[in-house]
Amino acid sequence: MKIATILGTRPEIIKMAPIIDEIKENNIDQIIIHTGQHYDQEMSDNFFRDLEIPTPDYNIHVGSGTHGKQTEHMMEGIEEILLKEKPDIVLVQGDTNAVLAGALVCGKLHIAVGHVEAGLRSFDMTMPEEINRRVADICSTMYFIPTENSAINLLSEGFSRKNLIITGNTVVDACFRHLEIAKKRGFEEESLKNLDMNNMENILTLTMHRAENVDVKERVSNIIEALKELGDMNVIFPIHPRTKNMLEKFGLFDELNNLKHVHIVKPIGYLDFLLLTSKSTLILTDSGGLQEEAITLNVPALTLRYNTERPETVTAGGNILVGSNKKAILENATKILNDKDFADKMKNAINPYGQGDAAKKTINAIKKYYEKGLLNISAPEEIMTSFKRKMTQITENITVNEFESNEHSLIHMAFDGEEMRFPKDELNLNGMIIFYDKYDN
Ligand code: UD1
Ligand code: UDP
Repeated sequence: MKIATILGTRPEIIKMAPIIDEIKENNIDQIIIHTGQHYDQEMSDNFFRDLEIPTPDYNIHVGSGTHGKQTEHMMEGIEEILLKEKPDIVLVQGDTNAVLAGALVCGKLHIAVGHVEAGLRSFDMTMPEEINRRVADICSTMYFIPTENSAINLLSEGFSRKNLIITGNTVVDACFRHLEIAKKRGFEEESLKNLDMNNMENILTLTMHRAENVDVKERVSNIIEALKELGDMNVIFPIHPRTKNMLEKFGLFDELNNLKHVHIVKPIGYLDFLLLTSKSTLILTDSGGLQEEAITLNVPALTLRYNTERPETVTAGGNILVGSNKKAILENATKILNDKDFADKMKNAINPYGQGDAAKKTINAIKKYYEKGLLNISAPEEIMTSFKRKMTQITENITVNEFESNEHSLIHMAFDGEEMRFPKDELNLNGMIIFYDKYDN
C-alpha cells in the first residue's frame, strides 16, 4: 500500500505529523507533498525540524496569491504527482486550500481520499475554510472525524455512516508527544529567552490570522483597544505574516507594538509555542488549532470569533466566543485573571478530542479498508436494489449492531426524541426513531 499525504500550511504540518509517524511505524510506503502555501522558515521548515518529520518528496511552491490562483496551481501540481505516483489513498487535513485542491483532483482521478479532521462546520459560508471542508467532504472516501458532534454534521448532510470513523483529533497526539520534550528542552527561541519567560506570570498568548478579523480594520482596532486595557497581563503575540502585513497596512502595527505589556514576536517553533501556551493564564485567539490545544492543555481560551466549528470546546466550558467585541474580551479576560473559581472551571473542562491515539486509529482503519479492497474506486457493477431510506421507531432493547445484522441494514441516524445520536455499534435504540437502508445481500 502507498499513502500520499498533502500538506501546505503550519497547522497541516503539525496535525499530519503524528500520521506521518504512524505510516512509518507500519512500514507503509509514503510520499509527502508540500503545496508550498506556507514558505517562510518560521511557518514551515521549523515544524519539520521540531516534529522530526521527513522532508517532503515534492514541493509545488504555490506561494501566496488569490484563492483561485493558489487552488489552480495546487491542482495542477497535485495531479501531475498523483498520476506518476499512483497512491492507494491520499490524505488531506482540515480546511485549507490544499484540502480543496487535493480532494478535487483525487475525486476526478478516482483515487481514494481520506479527510483527516472531517465534519467540522461553522455554518458560515463567508469563510473560505467552510467552503473547502464541505467540498472536500463531497469528494472523500474515508472520513476521520474528531468528535461525535462533527460526525452528526456529516450524517445530517446525507453522508453514509459506513465511512465515518471517529478518531479524536491528531492535535492531541502531537501535543502529548511533544510537550514533555519541550519541557525538558526549555525555551530556545531567542525572542522568548530575551523575555525571561521562565519567570514571567499572567501570560496571555495571543494569535490571530483569520481573514474575517485581520483584514477588517474595525475588528482589529477593537481587539487592540481591548488589549490596551489589559495592562495586568503580559501579552505574547507571535504574529502571523498575514496579520503583520495587515496591521502595517492599517497603520496599527506601531500603536500595538508600543504598548509596554504587549510583546510582538515572529511566529515561533512548535516546541517553544507548546511551552508558552502551557504556561499561559489565558489564550486569546482566532486559530482553530489553538482552540483545541487550549482545552488539551487545560488553559482557558477566549476565541476572537462569532462562531466556531469547534463548538465542543464551548459546551465543555473551556472556551468562550468573544468575537471582536472589546467589552466581551475585557470582561472575560479580567474574570479569568481575577476569579479563581471561574478560571478553574474553564481549566477543568473535559477535552473532547480524544486520548492522543487519533493517528493510530486512522492508519488502522486505512489498513482494514485496503485489505478489503475498499480503496479501489470504480463504477458500481451490481444492480441497485436499495432505492429508499426507511424510517422506523424502535420499541425494544436492541443495539445498532444487532439491528443491522438482523435486518441486513445500515443505520444512518438515530433520533432520541431530543437530539440526533451517532449510531455507534453499542447504542441501545429502544425508544428511538432511526433512518436506515436495507440491503438484499
Ligand atoms: C491559511 C489557511 C487558513 C489557515 C492558515 C494557518 C486557506 C484558505 N487559509 O491562511 O485556513 O488557518 O493558513 O496559518 O488555505 N505569508 C507569508 N509567508 C508565508 C505564508 C504566508 O508572508 O509563509 C503571507 C502572505 O502575505 C500571504 C498571507 O500571509 O498573502 C496569507 O497567506 P495564505 O496562505 O493565503 O493564508 P493564511 O492567512 O496563512
Ligand atoms: N503555532 C505555533 N507557533 C506559533 C503560532 C501557532 O507553533 O507562533 C501552532 C499552534 O500550536 C497550532 C497551530 O500552530 O498547533 C495553529 O496554526 P494556525 O493558528 O496558523 O492555523 P489554524 O489552526 O487556525 O488553521
